[in-house]
Amino acid sequence: MNVVILAAGMGKRMQSDLPKVLHALAGKPLLSHVIDTARQLSPTCCCVVYGHGGELVPTRLAADDLHFVLQEPQLGTGHAVMQATSLLHDDQPTLVLYGDVPLTSDATLRSLIDKASNNKLAILTITMEDPTGYGRIVREEHKIVRIVEHKDANEAELQIHEVNTGILIAPTRQLKDWLSRLSNHNAQGEYYLTDIIALAVDDGVSIDSAQPAHAWETLGVNSKVQLAELERIHQHNLAQQLLEEGVTLADPARIDIRGELHCARDVSIDVGCVFEGNVMIGQGVTIGAYCVIKNSRIADNVNIKPFTHIDEATIGSDSQIGPYARLRPGTVLGSEVHVGNFVEIKNSEFGAHSKANHLAYVGDTTVGLRVNIGAGTITCNYDGANKHRTVIEDDAFIGSDTQLVAPVTVGKGATIGAGTTLTKDAPPDSLTVSRARQTSIAGWQRPVKQKK
Ligand code: UD1
Ligand code: CA
Repeated sequence: MNVVILAAGMGKRMQSDLPKVLHALAGKPLLSHVIDTARQLSPTCCCVVYGHGGELVPTRLAADDLHFVLQEPQLGTGHAVMQATSLLHDDQPTLVLYGDVPLTSDATLRSLIDKASNNKLAILTITMEDPTGYGRIVREEHKIVRIVEHKDANEAELQIHEVNTGILIAPTRQLKDWLSRLSNHNAQGEYYLTDIIALAVDDGVSIDSAQPAHAWETLGVNSKVQLAELERIHQHNLAQQLLEEGVTLADPARIDIRGELHCARDVSIDVGCVFEGNVMIGQGVTIGAYCVIKNSRIADNVNIKPFTHIDEATIGSDSQIGPYARLRPGTVLGSEVHVGNFVEIKNSEFGAHSKANHLAYVGDTTVGLRVNIGAGTITCNYDGANKHRTVIEDDAFIGSDTQLVAPVTVGKGATIGAGTTLTKDAPPDSLTVSRARQTSIAGWQRPVKQKK
């Protein structure tokens, strides 16, 4: 089929310079949600009609399988579809979606598509308690005969509760003809896509309708209030799905997933956690409160304690991380690694059983097996111009408050005395210490405060 996504509207009520369809829901532009749903239907052609906000929309969302068509000026939904007609294949139906309606499921769209088989037109409709503002579905003897916009409706039509969601599928050859016959003689002076219904009926084309599985699937975003409402609906759905998969959530209302979160069995997540991008969590993992985890992989039985930030990192099984740990991109930890509070690790590998339990910065470092990194250890990896690597071999012990000035290597089994500034390699199996020798002055008197 052909898909046309209408995304030219101006979104004035967002009170923002950013085009409405680029505002994020679950960390992803509204329009990207619609595009991703469309992709699940494997369309032959997917056109995005953009306008307001200029080239930002095609620039941000450019992809090989998308055509961006400019609608300028914006003269209504019918006029918007007209901009795409030259790209639509006549022998396949055309599905119209809205770029600001992000949560429509592909299952709902499939049920609509099924209704439209062979030269039929089908509309996705819902029945609303308060249909104010929506186009009303006018039926005669149960058959849809036209759609009347709220602003053009008479008293009787205003009483209709079945409304147009805006999503429809139509036979393309005829659609092009109906679009060419639209006029803008209506309350808004616009070319209404909805007017094709009456034209189709005149042409003897039958009109069917389908309803979404859930009403929220057709909710659009016109304001920050509606954006926040949809975000909560979406997060609620994602949390519900995790619960059904067996994940324990301390509070399903206090988790945010902005991307894809995959959890194995018996994962437990405390309140306030945010997951971004692609996160894979192994069996038996517990995640404490207020962690932010992005594009990372966590192996089985890891315990992540509260307030930990993990970004593009891999954590081996049975490790303990946090509280207040920060794992930055390129961190790869083996199994049974311990990373404690206020430890920052970047672009570094830790072998199994290694530990950095308190207050440390480890950057651009290769840490072997069973290494102990004392409190206050800092790898000085940056000389102001270039980054250099530190290597700490198996079974090394780094005393507290050590600076490792890279490039530098600590040999296997070496011990570095507390307070050392290591500027040369430390040989294996030896104690290396750089420290002013300790002296004591017997009978030394403290100064006393002078009287004025
Ligand atoms: C439209 C429908 C109405 C339906 C309602 C559902 C028409 C005439 N009316 O009304 O029956 O109940 O949606 O929300 O179709 N757009 C463009 N170019 C334009 C105008 C709009 O791309 O020139 C896009 C908007 O960005 C938006 C969508 O089309 O994504 C709908 O436009 P909007 O102005 O919200 O339509 P409504 O008047 O609410
Ligand atoms: Ca609207």
